[in-house]
Amino acid sequence: MLWIPIDKSSDTPLIRQVYEQIRIRILRGELQAGQQIPSTRELASDLQVSRNVILEAYDQLLAEGYIISCKGSGTYVAEGVLLEEPSIEQPLPLINLFTDSKQDRDDLIDFRSGIPDLNLFPRKKWANLSRQVYDESPSYVFGYNTPEGRLELRRILSSYLLRTRGVRCHPDQLVITTGATQALSLIAKLLLSPGDEVIIEDPITHEIQTIFSSPGASLYPIPVDGHGMRTELIPADKKPSFVFVTPSHQFPIGGILTIRRRIHLIQFAQASGCYIVEDDYDSEFRYKGTPVSSLQGLEPSRVIYIGTFSKILSPGLRLGYLVLPPSLIERCRDLKWFTDLHTPSIEQLILARFIEECYLERHISKMKKIYQKRREILTECLKMNFKDKVKIIGDATGLHLTAEFKDVDFSNDIIDKILEHGVRIYPVEIHTIKKGVHKNRIIMGYGNLTNEQISEGVSRLRNALLSM
Ligand SMILES: Cc1ncc(COP(=O)(O)O)c(C=O)c1O
Repeated sequence: MLWIPIDKSSDTPLIRQVYEQIRIRILRGELQAGQQIPSTRELASDLQVSRNVILEAYDQLLAEGYIISCKGSGTYVAEGVLLEEPSIEQPLPLINLFTDSKQDRDDLIDFRSGIPDLNLFPRKKWANLSRQVYDESPSYVFGYNTPEGRLELRRILSSYLLRTRGVRCHPDQLVITTGATQALSLIAKLLLSPGDEVIIEDPITHEIQTIFSSPGASLYPIPVDGHGMRTELIPADKKPSFVFVTPSHQFPIGGILTIRRRIHLIQFAQASGCYIVEDDYDSEFRYKGTPVSSLQGLEPSRVIYIGTFSKILSPGLRLGYLVLPPSLIERCRDLKWFTDLHTPSIEQLILARFIEECYLERHISKMKKIYQKRREILTECLKMNFKDKVKIIGDATGLHLTAEFKDVDFSNDIIDKILEHGVRIYPVEIHTIKKGVHKNRIIMGYGNLTNEQISEGVSRLRNALLSM
């Protein structure tokens, strides 16, 4: 007799339960190759279920090759289906890439950078526009679209970028991507082969370092200071595939690349025949003065410009874009097609209307005031709690600042001890290529924290540091 525990009250259909139980036993070797399994009639009677249930379960197992049926003599386990894996039923544990949940307390204050206020996403407007797009779009929009993205969005974006960022491009130079991260990956695939070199700011996000080094390219780090990449340190004889910069708001140190350095960079790119990749991930939120003009506007034929809606709207939307020099457009479109065909069209159309009807600019201006207040509170709290022991860097733009402490080395141990006090902070060192230069600096994101959380977070940080 084959004993199969089945649960008649379960939502899982009986056929599925029988099929799954037999399948797992075969894979585990509990039912071995060549072994006869009960007839459908027998099993149906043992389990007190209809014979049709067993017939269908067996049919499925037969179709997938787990069992074979020999006319007249019965049904047997097929050869070669053993999987020596004891825990087939157990789902893989979920890995949380961002936090170590073991240590998290409910009231943890997390200064993670680059997250906008998720409670203030303009849900109502987005929902209204979404309704309009679903009601009004012709049916072909719901089919496969072109890899570069919807023309409606590319058109409105090209004029928006010219107006706000000085980016000079025809809509055909735009490729809509699934966030800036995909834009970076496409560039890596497009321009890098094993043995190539990328000149890159140091520090820069660990993720970006990984994206560029994974095709086998090596990274040539150039240190940054309060004015971005120290371009004078780029050896004139270098022949990289491209130079990567975040010129409007260096991540994470926060500097804005000076015009002298921009010109130097362009001259270097012209002389060495390479591209410049400009990642403009959060410069819309500029608190001192107006947004800095793009590097792309100075030399559109050499600069690949990347933008994202993750910081100005929501990272969950996964909408970003690339502005390409004409020579790269065709290949990039092909690559995008082979990667994921295209970014979801409906979201693109909603975003196009959101920009066209001026909601984006209004949202940015509303959020800028809110973030500006949070930035002020964070700065004041840091100064109040740490006096001359803290220096604030790179707070003119974006959703984070960098704080430099006298006599503190933010090692992993210290970060863990700070976490025990209910506050999570991020050392700059995790994003460095050359280690040991930024040990006393931390990145503090304030976009998704309330004023109260910011001030409570800083006093927890102070208590934590005092207790060491
Ligand atoms: C410098 C920089 N570039 C790009 C990105 C990726 O943004 P996205 O969410 O659009 O993929 C980030 C994310 O925080 C970032 O910090």
